[in-house]
Amino acid sequence: MTSKIALVTGSNQGIGFGIVRELCRRNVGVVYLTSRNIQRGKEAVAKLEKDGFYPKYHQLDVSDEESVKTFAEYVKNKYGGLDILINNAGVLDSDFYKVSFEEAKRIIDVNVHGIILMQKHFFPILRDNARVINVSSDWGHITNIKNPYWVQRLTNKDIKLEDVYGFLNWFLDSVKNNALKEEDFFENSVLAYRVSKVAVSALTRVQQNDVGKGISINSLNPGFVRTNMTKGGGDMTVVEAGVTPVYLALDIDQSVKGKYFWFDKTEVDWADSTLDVVDTFDAFEKALEEVNK
Ligand SMILES: NC(=O)c1ccc[n+]([C@@H]2O[C@H](COP(=O)([O-])OP(=O)(O)OC[C@H]3O[C@@H](n4cnc5c(N)ncnc54)[C@H](OP(=O)(O)O)[C@@H]3O)[C@@H](O)[C@H]2O)c1
Repeated sequence: MTSKIALVTGSNQGIGFGIVRELCRRNVGVVYLTSRNIQRGKEAVAKLEKDGFYPKYHQLDVSDEESVKTFAEYVKNKYGGLDILINNAGVLDSDFYKVSFEEAKRIIDVNVHGIILMQKHFFPILRDNARVINVSSDWGHITNIKNPYWVQRLTNKDIKLEDVYGFLNWFLDSVKNNALKEEDFFENSVLAYRVSKVAVSALTRVQQNDVGKGISINSLNPGFVRTNMTKGGGDMTVVEAGVTPVYLALDIDQSVKGKYFWFDKTEVDWADSTLDVVDTFDAFEKALEEVNK
């Protein structure tokens, strides 16, 4: 394997940790495990070292512009550029059934604005033919949104950043004004998360349209993975969940751009609003019940 520089956001635990492990296993030159909390990050590095994997470490909080800027400058000065960026950091609604304005803002800040901050500071140092993977969700497929105006606007091939911002503002205003409409969503649970992940998938297409330099940017549903986010429920381990993101970062053809992938490496048409691909919330709740038995 050639010597590439890779970094994974939010990788002290969960899927991000699995992705770092897989990047190391595949002998990518330099792999950065990053975390918002330094101690949790260093403990994660020590855990991988015990298994014979040696990632490097840097602090990175994707909701803190100073932190993002500091790390981007560090990578630029030390390596001159970046080859693989995996935007994995994410948070889920703490109340699955009810969304407050503050909570919606917090989730959108990390899940969407975090990726936009990473774009601002890291895209200028991406090398030609670099790869970016945005970790979305099946709850980030367009079929989660049933409002015809937003489905049409978000699936437009020439989508712009202002369309993504418009969508997020529509949601935040509806939450603030207590004006959410049930019929606008596939299901009325984890709404801030769903909206944020639909925005991540849409943003992937915006980023690809704008980026140039042969860079490829794709998003992915990593599958239902046993992590703290799912309170231990799920079908896959974090080690298994690391495989497909790394396949997208290393193995698929560079010409695959702006697409949305499933955890089994197949491509799913993100913009097809007639597909039946999204897991119901009921399945998630059943998995949690199993864990708590
Ligand atoms: N697990 C699933 O079944 C599933 C399904 C679909 C999509 N996903 C997506 O996969 C990604 C990883 O989820 P996971 O299940 O592995 O969750 P997790 O175990 O809760 O891990 C999330 C990671 O993101 C980090 N993080 C949160 N806010 C951050 C910030 N501001 N800056 C930097 N890092 C931050 C967390 O750090 P701390 O340890 O400090 O909290 C943690 O390392 C998320 O984007 C999630 O939405 C997961």
